[in-house]
Amino acid sequence: MKCCRLLILVVCITLIGFNGILVYSGEQNKKSDEFRNEFVKNFRRTGLNTTVGDAMMLRILVESSGAKRGIEVGSASGFGAINMGIGFERTGGHLYTLEIDPRSAKVCRDNLQKVGLENTVTCIEGDALKTLPTLEGEFDFVFIDAVKQDYMKYLKLIEPKLKPGAVVVGDNVIRSARAMKDFLDYIQNSPDYDTVIIRASMEKKDGMSISYKIR
Ligand SMILES: C[S@@+](CC[C@H](N)C(=O)[O-])C[C@H]1O[C@@H](n2cnc3c(N)ncnc32)[C@H](O)[C@@H]1O
Repeated sequence: MKCCRLLILVVCITLIGFNGILVYSGEQNKKSDEFRNEFVKNFRRTGLNTTVGDAMMLRILVESSGAKRGIEVGSASGFGAINMGIGFERTGGHLYTLEIDPRSAKVCRDNLQKVGLENTVTCIEGDALKTLPTLEGEFDFVFIDAVKQDYMKYLKLIEPKLKPGAVVVGDNVIRSARAMKDFLDYIQNSPDYDTVIIRASMEKKDGMSISYKIR
């Protein structure tokens, strides 16, 4: 009887250990370059998502600037957030992505979970005009990609929290230039920013503004 109990105990411990190894290796697999590259390659992008080229540009900007605290305004299903999230994971930083649509926020969170980025990227549900003021601390990276007419409003809410040396990126600045004229005039003429308009991808025949906050 004693021997039988001991055997059951050994089997249980072995099973728990084996299960633990499976869970651990599953978690590790989600974070592997191979898995993430495939996930990004097969991502079901919609017209809302950033292009592959723009998303890679964002990741490179995060990594090359060594950004530690970022904000994305407008998450959609999380294509940009995943790409920037990989960059923030490498810099040891964190990204907050803000989304007004509850369904998109859920899809974004699910996608982040699938690639093991849920601890690096936080999706905050709600109107960015209301959630931006609730974000505490300083930020060194911003990607604005929600309502085009409101880019200036988003920037003005973020600006008091921007560190000198911060990078601010605006999406769709060529095709929606008229809708965001106040934003473009400001970042291109303010003595506090160096700004360039780039086209990292031909996919949407559009472009991004990249601004460096000098002071
Ligand atoms: C162009 S998509 C974002 C694409 C995403 N940045 C990407 O890289 O895949 C714009 C998103 O902004 C969201 N949005 C619109 N107004 C918003 C607001 N006031 N606050 C937060 N999100 C908003 C929309 O629901 C939509 O999902």
